Amino acid sequence: MSTSSIKFYDRFSKLYPIVDVFLRPQKRRLFEEINLLDHGKLLEIGVGNGTHLGLYKKHALIGIDTSKSMLSKAIDYATQEMQLLHMSGEQLEFEDHCFDYIVLSHVIAVVEHPEKMLEECCRVLKKDGSLILLNHFTPNNFLGYIDRAFQLFSPIFHFKSAFYLKDLKALKKIELKEQIHFSRLRYFKLLIYKKP
Ligand SMILES: C[S@@+](CC[C@H](N)C(=O)[O-])C[C@H]1O[C@@H](n2cnc3c(N)ncnc32)[C@H](O)[C@@H]1O
Repeated sequence: MSTSSIKFYDRFSKLYPIVDVFLRPQKRRLFEEINLLDHGKLLEIGVGNGTHLGLYKKHALIGIDTSKSMLSKAIDYATQEMQLLHMSGEQLEFEDHCFDYIVLSHVIAVVEHPEKMLEECCRVLKKDGSLILLNHFTPNNFLGYIDRAFQLFSPIFHFKSAFYLKDLKALKKIELKEQIHFSRLRYFKLLIYKKP
């Protein structure tokens, strides 16, 4: 994780509530799915400012983030049972096979090495554990041209605008169980994978 990216998210934490407004409908859908899952140990990587933490209804949550400023805001939304830690999703300080669920919400296209983070997720997930992934993925329509054009500028905002699901090799080791699209443009996807 580069220090410039950490600094960016530290500064961006003040403006993130604006982004949050646009993501709210997706988050509601995400939590409908999460709250259907049995009780278990859940890791959220890139927990951000944590305004969604109150939507977790029944899981034992550990939330991590590389931005201390984001974490300091998330504390205000966390319950006493939730644990928030300063840690990178690319280098998880947890033992193998210890989580039932991992949530990645708008973080996979932000981290420097998405494959490394996914490998780490597979390592710490229990057998039959679920990886719940919400993100934009560059589709095969006109939005693909926009994503590719914006790719020139997106590093300034520390994310990858042109981002293809098919390129994520680590996901091929786990089974896709459910795929939810938020519109016919198929830009944002909610994907639920199971570790065999
Ligand atoms: C776009 S925000 C998403 C926040 C939240 N998950 C949401 O859906 O609103 C991305 C977050 O990931 C964090 N992040 C970036 N790289 C990370 C890494 N390697 N490990 C953990 N968190 C990271 C950033 O600090 C930021 O808080």
